[in-house]
Amino acid sequence: MTERKIDELVNCAAKARERAYTPYSHYSVGAAVLTKSGDVYTGCNIENASYGATCCAERVALFKAVSEGEQDIQMIAVIADGDKPVPPCGICRQVMIELAPQALVVMSNLEGKRERRTVQELLPSAFEKSSLK
Ligand code: THU
Repeated sequence: MTERKIDELVNCAAKARERAYTPYSHYSVGAAVLTKSGDVYTGCNIENASYGATCCAERVALFKAVSEGEQDIQMIAVIADGDKPVPPCGICRQVMIELAPQALVVMSNLEGKRERRTVQELLPSAFEKSSLK
């Protein structure tokens, strides 16, 4: 993965973050996924008065990509405001294992601090497809 592609995807995630709907937590998150064909799908967190109905930015972006027929997701960028790059929540990690198991995840904060992990690193020993056999 080139540094240029990483920078571009993080910028897309930062733009998507501006559309976050966060009247409850006021914590805005943006995400972007890059597919093998070079297409980008973005997402932001979308909250709900019934808190459990909230959807994280990463899942919004992943569901958009998959619902458009994408099957090969190479990279996921996620960005939020904090001292450290934002780590994806457990539910998003589980969805990543299912829909983007080979992806590189780039976590960022607004100051430009970044961390990179594979999805496998973020969720070792996962319950996945093969567990059901
Ligand atoms: N959030 C995300 O969008 N992604 C994460 O990985 C962590 C949490 C959102 C959900 C909620 O809208 C807000 O951040 C506070 O938890």
